[in-house]
Amino acid sequence: MIETKPTNIHWHEGDLSRDERWKALGTRGATLWFTGLSASGKSTIASALEQTLVNKGINAYRLDGDNVRHGLNKNLGFSAEDRAENIRRIGEVAKLFADSGAIALTSFISPYRADRDLCRKLHDDAGLGFIEVFVDTPLEVCEQRDPKGLYKKARAGEIKGFTGIDDPYEAPEKAELTINTEGRSVDECVAECLKLLVDRRVLAKG
Ligand code: ADX
Repeated sequence: MIETKPTNIHWHEGDLSRDERWKALGTRGATLWFTGLSASGKSTIASALEQTLVNKGINAYRLDGDNVRHGLNKNLGFSAEDRAENIRRIGEVAKLFADSGAIALTSFISPYRADRDLCRKLHDDAGLGFIEVFVDTPLEVCEQRDPKGLYKKARAGEIKGFTGIDDPYEAPEKAELTINTEGRSVDECVAECLKLLVDRRVLAKG
């Protein structure tokens, strides 16, 4: 549970409503939350989707686990508590991006269901779309890909608490989309995400 520090703070409503902003900018914000094991393909799909959307003139912005851990979340490790804080912060940041009218594309392992559900609730409470995409690539395939050599190190005991090896991954039970990347092209996966964004009325067309 996150400690809330009591202070004399008050919410300040701006002059511009979300509707007014989105209408003026011709945009609709939402968060597409990619979750899955390391090397499952989250970042690859999110990055290709970001490029496709931006080339269509749609403001999409990717928040990526490895990258965010270089800056905003550089003080966090991989204990359950730190992962929860990592995800909570990203949930809040994604919510701000979505409110601004952007499509936030988050790619974090986000292994704990409760942490992802908290992010969903943050969005629900703010009337913003939260679309969970489970990149369901089997552990054997992720381990075979091992682009950063981390599974090998985890198997050798050089990294402790590695998701899928000696740390849990809780698969989503109500993801809006499940993608298995095995034997599928990145373009096919991107097309599925675009269709979902149209179905959920974030995009007018794919
Ligand atoms: S999360 O669990 O808190 O959501 P996040 O997505 O930010 O993780 O970071 C995962 C990335 O950190 C992995 O892709 C991998 O490159 C690296 N990493 C380093 N240590 C670990 C670990 N113990 N478990 C999982 N990933 C790790």
